[in-house]
Amino acid sequence: MSELDKINKNFVEKLNKIKTKEDLQNLKSEFLGKNGFVTNEFKKMSQFNLDQKKEFSIQLNEIKNSINENLSNKLKEIEKDEINKKLSDEKIDITLPIRSQQEGKIHPVSQVIDEISSIFSEIGYSVAEGPDVETEHNNFTALNTPEDHPARDMHDTFYLEKNKRILLRTHTSPVQIRTMQKGKPPFKIIAPGRTYRCDSDQTHAPMFHQLEGLHVDKEITMAHLKGCLNYFIQEFFEIKNIKMRFRPSHFPFTEPSAEVDIGYRIENDKIFIGDGDKWLEILGCGMVHPNVLKNSNIDANKYQGFAFGMGIDRLAMLKYGINDLRSFLKLISDG
Ligand code: PHE
Repeated sequence: MSELDKINKNFVEKLNKIKTKEDLQNLKSEFLGKNGFVTNEFKKMSQFNLDQKKEFSIQLNEIKNSINENLSNKLKEIEKDEINKKLSDEKIDITLPIRSQQEGKIHPVSQVIDEISSIFSEIGYSVAEGPDVETEHNNFTALNTPEDHPARDMHDTFYLEKNKRILLRTHTSPVQIRTMQKGKPPFKIIAPGRTYRCDSDQTHAPMFHQLEGLHVDKEITMAHLKGCLNYFIQEFFEIKNIKMRFRPSHFPFTEPSAEVDIGYRIENDKIFIGDGDKWLEILGCGMVHPNVLKNSNIDANKYQGFAFGMGIDRLAMLKYGINDLRSFLKLISDG
């Protein structure tokens, strides 16, 4: 048997025993690597004359090619075996009990925003938005709030700049200004969003949610305001003839202004909305102050309208029987 035949035989014997990719790689270097058996044969070439060289190199290349082919076939075989093994190992065991899963749910505040938006969209309101970071102008000045108004105080407002120009909006009312400044009347919008005040206890969080409403046109009156809010409250609580009242109040940006209360009673520690002799305040509202229209370049002799603002967290708590505001801020519920 020639030296080359011996090498080939040796290779085939070793190849047949190989089961892993790693061993296959080692075998490859044993024969074709820098000091491999086949490589070393090539180095012998210099000893031969031209004819012998020709002959020898043909044989040697044949062996080299056949080794390469065998190696790549073996690699395919090993990979196929690996896949088959994986498939049979990973069979699903249908007798295993299921793992408990934590299900995601829509946050009650987001759900209530959706509910309120769809109630108002039925009567022609569209949704507007404004940023959480506002200018002092949009949040206070354009809304007719006097320089010395207590709401502007550092204790109530998160200012982001020492000179008080930029702040976290304390209500959604600046969206009224943004809407009126960039469009032309009539306006009929609601604007839900996050609002911020330096306040934190069981019933107040420094970040909370409000929903603003604004309807401005040529002949909008307080009667429209009453009708609109009456419709909304009945739809939201799904209670017909819900007990509600408009209580005179004051906001710098509306005149006249009112707060809306709804009737409720408590029985066996549970709150029942809609009747009873107790009153719960749920929103502020009024006719848009002419100064606010003027500040937004709207002709206050031609146009008038109403605005309202409600606390969404409070409404969500009432509708879904949640009694601690702070549970809205938990990342994962316990139950
Ligand atoms: N912005 C007022 C508040 O935060 C609510 C309000 C909005 C009152 C619009 C009147 C009109 O309390």
